Amino acid sequence: MKKATYTVTAALPYANGPLHLGHVAGVYLPADIFVRFLRMNAHDVAFICGSDEHGAAITLRAKKEGVSPQEIVDKYNHLIKNAFEQFNISFDIFHRTSDQLHHETSADFFKKLHDQGKFTKQTSDQYYDEEFQQFLADRYIAGECPKCANPNAYGDQCEKCGSDLSPTDLKNPKSTLSGKSPVLKSTSHWYLPMDQHEVWLKEWIQNGVLDGVQQHDPKTWRNQVIGQCMSWINGGLKPRAMTRDLDWGVKVPLPNAEGKVLYVWLDAPIGYISATKQWALDNGKDWKDYWCKDQAGDRKLVHFIGKDNIVFHAIIFPILLKDHGDFILPDNVPAYEFLNLEGDKFSTSRNWAVWLHEYLASYPEKVDELKYVLSAIAPESKDSEFTWKEYQTRVNSELADIYGNFVNRTLVLTQKYYEGIVPKPLNFEEVDLQVLEELKEIPNRISKLIYAYKLRDAQAEMMQIARIGNKYLADQEPWKLIKTNPERVQTIMYIALQITAKLTLASSPFLPDTSIKLQNILNKKLGDWSDFLNDELLSPGHLIGEPMILFPKIEDSLVNSELERLKNNDDVKSNFPQ
Ligand code: 2FM
Ligand code: ZN
Repeated sequence: MKKATYTVTAALPYANGPLHLGHVAGVYLPADIFVRFLRMNAHDVAFICGSDEHGAAITLRAKKEGVSPQEIVDKYNHLIKNAFEQFNISFDIFHRTSDQLHHETSADFFKKLHDQGKFTKQTSDQYYDEEFQQFLADRYIAGECPKCANPNAYGDQCEKCGSDLSPTDLKNPKSTLSGKSPVLKSTSHWYLPMDQHEVWLKEWIQNGVLDGVQQHDPKTWRNQVIGQCMSWINGGLKPRAMTRDLDWGVKVPLPNAEGKVLYVWLDAPIGYISATKQWALDNGKDWKDYWCKDQAGDRKLVHFIGKDNIVFHAIIFPILLKDHGDFILPDNVPAYEFLNLEGDKFSTSRNWAVWLHEYLASYPEKVDELKYVLSAIAPESKDSEFTWKEYQTRVNSELADIYGNFVNRTLVLTQKYYEGIVPKPLNFEEVDLQVLEELKEIPNRISKLIYAYKLRDAQAEMMQIARIGNKYLADQEPWKLIKTNPERVQTIMYIALQITAKLTLASSPFLPDTSIKLQNILNKKLGDWSDFLNDELLSPGHLIGEPMILFPKIEDSLVNSELERLKNNDDVKSNFPQ
């Protein structure tokens, strides 16, 4: 049977600043691991991302820098896209929401919902900045949070307590454009009556059932995702405006709607669809195979996001997809908690951050090292923390001492004893059979964990292969036996080489560059998960290449200089927005 087709999306980053390690650990890297694994398992996959180029985040940034919004998005689209490429994140496309195809796709989407009567039009009084002659939605207005008294809450959200707000909830509101108190002025907008969707949403989120049909397995949804959605729904969903009075964004495709654009959180997730369309056009595919429910075959949509995006991907976008009528709903929304840095929150305004592009500029040869550490500490179920000391420890005592050491010993001894030729095994002893048996179970465990979105544990299982290999060599001590019992050493080295090949294969989703290096050394392509079914990945007589140091040790000087840099960053405040 043909395996399910997957459309895997990673949250579209705002093109208003660079990415830091928190973004990478909690969205892009896990999505990439998941996708690489799916590809190895013969799933047809579209891995979709791009930059989110509308909304107040962009226009305010442009205003601050005194340039046009287009200049801002061009600059950061470029910077982010390059960083992803260098970090070897394997998107099928990195698109952008300022693209014409996206404007058409999201305008058509809005129009279809409008024509089907899915929106309500309401006129209300909204805050208006008389000096700038602009309505003040979302981040254009700030004031005191009614829940936690944070004096700098925005019109859409309080970043301190995480509450979702409306501009009129704020106490003592001020325009973020002029800094002045706003006046109230009447304006009309199209609203999504979310309150009418509570019943089916509850059933779909909690039980995975939609219109009486089982759509997803709620056991694979993270508790935090279900919990956050239910608390929103139980608190009562309110109609939400889907348009804004702004001049930057997708124009509302209706008569008499001058000066109005789509709400950025309406157009951004539709960006996943327009990006898929572009990719399909470029690659001779049919985008509908990845999004539309009436196409033949089984298809799944998976959104990797940070926890601050849960409501948009697990409530609002599913309502829009269902209202539209043609589309599947997400099979899962794996949301990540936040990563902290050296005892504090990542903060762009304080420049308390490790920027991905800066890491890559400093350590272009340490891509897999960073991937490994970020996956090992990924904030899957609770917030976690990156420290340079832990980075050093994990690289040195796990990647270098366990993984690198095992592979290196195996390759060095194979060169030394057999000039790189895989030896023929003779008698398998009990211990050999046990090791081979133990190895057989690991790929299944990794598979199960990855399909359940437990990527952190899956990576730990991959490392288990190297641990088994290390222990096997340490116990068998071929370097001692080579003089007295060379026949036995043939079997030991044959087994160590099979373990190395399995490690190479299992590493492919997590440490893709390392896996390729090893495949080159082993002189063997190992890219299919089904290769695990083969007990003998390297046959006797096969010639392998010379070893190399896979993971050089991280010196204390690197840790110290990075800590120093962070401290200095904290003194010199960042120029980037929050
Ligand atoms: O939170 C953010 O960074 C948003 N730009 C994510 C958008 S995800 C999707 F909907 F496009
Ligand atoms: Zn608050």
